Amino acid sequence: MSKQKLIVLTGAGISAESGLRTFRDTDGLWEGYNVYEVATPEGFRKNPELVLDFYNMRRRDVANTKPNAAHIGLAELENDFDVHIITQNIDDLHERAGSTNVLHLHGEIFKMRSVKNSVKTYPIHGDIKLGDLAEDGSQLRPFIVWFEEPVPMIEAAIRITKTADIFAVIGTSLQVYPAAGLVNYAAREIPKFILDKKIPYTSSLQNLTVIEKGAGDAVFQLNAHLRNLL
Ligand code: APR
Repeated sequence: MSKQKLIVLTGAGISAESGLRTFRDTDGLWEGYNVYEVATPEGFRKNPELVLDFYNMRRRDVANTKPNAAHIGLAELENDFDVHIITQNIDDLHERAGSTNVLHLHGEIFKMRSVKNSVKTYPIHGDIKLGDLAEDGSQLRPFIVWFEEPVPMIEAAIRITKTADIFAVIGTSLQVYPAAGLVNYAAREIPKFILDKKIPYTSSLQNLTVIEKGAGDAVFQLNAHLRNLL
């Protein structure tokens, strides 16, 4: 018998216990920076070095941390479920925990692209500096979806969400679209879970179970619920 499809939408909260800052919590990243200066095309045009350094620092933070119990718990669920992760996170902690189906909606910190070509990517583990050029001769930039930029993976994410037998949302404030809109594509009748240390408001979702805990403990409890669905 084929495994049930578990589709999981994750956000910064799942990486918080690895020591990576979220965006909108107190002391979140956006408290320290003006998001329009460091995460928009206009910000990059105005001050490319500030933006390159912002993501150079994010890249070092991710390189110096490791997956936490929540990432590992999700990876282990692949033993019993066909797990597909749709993440808003740019870190690679799901992959490093062992998850094998990870779709990044907002890009990946260890990849870069040229300003001219949003499709071709190159690996990067060090810093990107002003003057570092791609083979097309244009400046290299992080392979990150900035505000006001298109989210090319959203159609694939919607298709995957529609196939869910079980849908879970972990560690996201559900404030950024189109990612947050994915909750509306999960079929009404399937079991849904929201795991967060402070459950975000969502319009009424059918068959919803909320687990209001830190991500590591919440995934452990999710596991217990999912055993009953096997
Ligand atoms: N355990 C569980 N949930 C947590 C924890 C934790 N230890 N710490 C924080 N959270 C929850 C918060 O309660 C909040 O609901 O994680 C969520 C973090 O929300 P945001 O900071 O808004 O992050 P996210 O939802 O991923 O942001 C979405 O916005 O800034 C853009 O592109 C960026 O991908 C990001 C997008």
